[in-house]
Amino acid sequence: MSCVPWPVDAELRRRIAALDLPSKVRLLTGETVWRLPAEPRLGLLPVTTSDGPQGVRGTGDDPAATGLLAPAPSALGATWDKALAERLGALFAGEARRKGVDVLLAPEVNLQRTPVAGRHFEYFSEDPLLTGVLAAAVVRGLQDRGVGACLKHFVANDSETDRTRYRSRLDERTLREVYLAPFEQVLAEAGPWSVMAAYSGVDDGVESAPMTEHIRLLREVLKGEWGFDGPVISDWAATNSTAASAVGGLDLVMPGPDGPWGEALVSAVRAGQVPQELIDDKVLRLLRLARNTGRLGEQGARADDMPAQPSGSRVPASAAPEEFALLREVAARGTVVLRDAPQLLPLAADGIGSVALIGPNAVAPYLQGGGSAFVPAVRTVSFEEGLRAALPPEVRLTVHRGGASRRRPPIVADTMLALPGEGDGFGTPGVRADHVGADGTILRSTVRASGDWTSYEDFCAATRRVVLHTVLTLSEPGVHRLEFGCTGRFTVTVDGEEVLSGNDDRGVDHILDSTHHHPPLRGIDVEVGPEPRRLSVRVDLGVIEVGGYGRFVTAQLRHAAPGPTPYEEIAEAAAAAQAADVAVVVVGTNEEFESEGWDRTGLDLSAPQDELVRKVLAANPRTIVVVNAGAPVLLPWAQEAPVLLWAWLPGQEAGHALADVLFGRTEPSGRLPWTLPARAEDVPVPHALPRDGIVAYDEGVHVGHRSWDRRGLDPAFPFGHGLGWTQWDYESVTFPESSVSAAALTCPAGGDGLQLTVEVTNTGPREGQEVVQVYLEPPQDGLERPVRLLAGFATVRAAAGARATAQVHVPARAFQIWDTARHAWHTPPGRYRLHAGRSSRDLRLTVEVSADGDRLTPAGGPATPRQFS
Ligand code: BGC
Repeated sequence: MSCVPWPVDAELRRRIAALDLPSKVRLLTGETVWRLPAEPRLGLLPVTTSDGPQGVRGTGDDPAATGLLAPAPSALGATWDKALAERLGALFAGEARRKGVDVLLAPEVNLQRTPVAGRHFEYFSEDPLLTGVLAAAVVRGLQDRGVGACLKHFVANDSETDRTRYRSRLDERTLREVYLAPFEQVLAEAGPWSVMAAYSGVDDGVESAPMTEHIRLLREVLKGEWGFDGPVISDWAATNSTAASAVGGLDLVMPGPDGPWGEALVSAVRAGQVPQELIDDKVLRLLRLARNTGRLGEQGARADDMPAQPSGSRVPASAAPEEFALLREVAARGTVVLRDAPQLLPLAADGIGSVALIGPNAVAPYLQGGGSAFVPAVRTVSFEEGLRAALPPEVRLTVHRGGASRRRPPIVADTMLALPGEGDGFGTPGVRADHVGADGTILRSTVRASGDWTSYEDFCAATRRVVLHTVLTLSEPGVHRLEFGCTGRFTVTVDGEEVLSGNDDRGVDHILDSTHHHPPLRGIDVEVGPEPRRLSVRVDLGVIEVGGYGRFVTAQLRHAAPGPTPYEEIAEAAAAAQAADVAVVVVGTNEEFESEGWDRTGLDLSAPQDELVRKVLAANPRTIVVVNAGAPVLLPWAQEAPVLLWAWLPGQEAGHALADVLFGRTEPSGRLPWTLPARAEDVPVPHALPRDGIVAYDEGVHVGHRSWDRRGLDPAFPFGHGLGWTQWDYESVTFPESSVSAAALTCPAGGDGLQLTVEVTNTGPREGQEVVQVYLEPPQDGLERPVRLLAGFATVRAAAGARATAQVHVPARAFQIWDTARHAWHTPPGRYRLHAGRSSRDLRLTVEVSADGDRLTPAGGPATPRQFS
């Protein structure tokens, strides 16, 4: 049987009409955590979803499965390069096809409204335009290869604290001009096939509702005004109502198979609370998604009848060298040179005798953020491995931690754990788990090597408790610290003595706030003398039901051995730096700081990293400081660092990418996609803690760099900053001779507008890439408008001494505001200045245009050079 390649909507409606109500409603809740239901009568095959945005995690069917781990989205944001973003989207499409995934739950176009946001690393930028451009490119890369995007999280879900309950309160202009803007742009430019409704809610002054029920934003704006014709999918376990969400515009409840729809929705339709046509519309949207992703065939189609992937797309059977190369390129090109005062970069690898690689993140790089974005990587290249591979063998490379930066001790080493009852405790390594039924019977026992027992194991329905047993051997004399992290109902005993217990019944909330990965810890100190000590550890855990996610337990056993103090480690590292030709210090965040589920409480690097950097800088003037973090951290020593690089959460190829940057194989051409504060007190939105359940977006349209400009404050490094490895002169900016017609100013987001031509010359010693940025200053005529906003950008390349021409598209929308009274976009008349430059604070050229309602005309004569400090 052949599949029908493109059944039109009329045909789909005909098929839907033949189904009874319960059969239709059944399709509107997931079949499993990741898969949607199939329906042969419709020709519908199961559509499989999987998390992004750092790769394609897969469905977990094979617990050992790994995958490509890309740099986190804020690193891609730093490339400002939509061609690169599209190539990365294409790579994700290939990976998705390999893993049998039809829809990637990415990209995310929430904004980095506050630097402490837990998912900051998952977002591209603090700027709506940069976010929209890059996300649209990722969507194109995916969907051109038949893999659907799910644009998320709609909308104003920009922080984590209490994320399933808070409402974001923002006025209509702010919503339209800032937070809806990237969604609107991506829809207009790339047409994503699905959209995810956020956990949080929105109060825009007209309607206050959870996003799974928001009639105005889902039905009127997204589906009505913008014409989105795919399904709105709930964030996982976000739906808390039946009729309200069904009427509100949600189309699909995830995960399944249980949830608030099913039978309850059938009854609500029969009771007249939900119109039957709405159900048909939801099924139609689901079928369009299936059609787009190649999961819809003739009625009666079975999976075997369908081609595994759309014809024409060729995907390597397993991760291929060119895919590793692309991940490496994104990580290297996204790297931002914040400072290079002595122009030390790139280093000549053969002119160096020794390198000291220093820092907690040098020893344990943070490659990806925590939470649903997590991907078990197919391979990882540490900074040490990358540098070693790039350096000639005779160059000495030494590695020094310089003090622990984690608050939590590491998970206990597997080699310290042994199964109980095996002689003296040095028996088979591991932890035994007894799966216990309601009456205390042991149903089965399993063994795992690790002291990390965060698990969605297939606990059979009868399993009520899991009891872990292990014998822990502590050898080194001194005081050891043991910390236990468990969730739910549990008891931990050591040598028969209860050391802690818990009684927490929060169910699915354990998952939604990431407690299961990051349980509260409590611990004990254990003194060890000249002889090793063996401790018998028993952890009794109640199995927790977590809705559609299944059943799980969490138990972590962490251990800190006696060892040198941080100050001793810093002294050792500084001595090594002094003895080396070059010191490379890598500091940053880790999984305790950047993760879905919670927000950070501050911006400081965890101790003792500031102290470490200062000591190394004092020890060796040829020191390169590398920041391995996705979101801003304060760098109080920044102006003392001769070379300062921001290397993001760089994904699996971290080490190779850093080596490429240091030794001149790839230009670190990144530009900051957000503002790096110098002082905590300057941060425009220092936290997003809900008050009485409300997160108030009081800064209005002045998001990110706009707020810094408005308040006239100097950050450590401004939005758009990045030096690359060459220098650029800005020669001229030209605006089209004639005025731009009315059509240009009434077009949808992203379209039309005007084109600026910016001539730049590479005056430095190497070929390089420049991100030409254009900022628009609207007239300040009594309306609340940003002082300056990013209006367009383009990347160009030029050889040393050569010129390049950047064509920068400035969309009509950049000039417009949302007129709340007229419920329409509007261009306030007046003179607008457009600046072309290297960052939001390094503006080189200016051109003026005047808007008179429906026309833009050049104003003020020829373009004038202008330097902002
Ligand atoms: C996250 C989503 C993710 C979903 C499925 C949720 O907790 O907010 O971004 O796609 O889980 O893992």
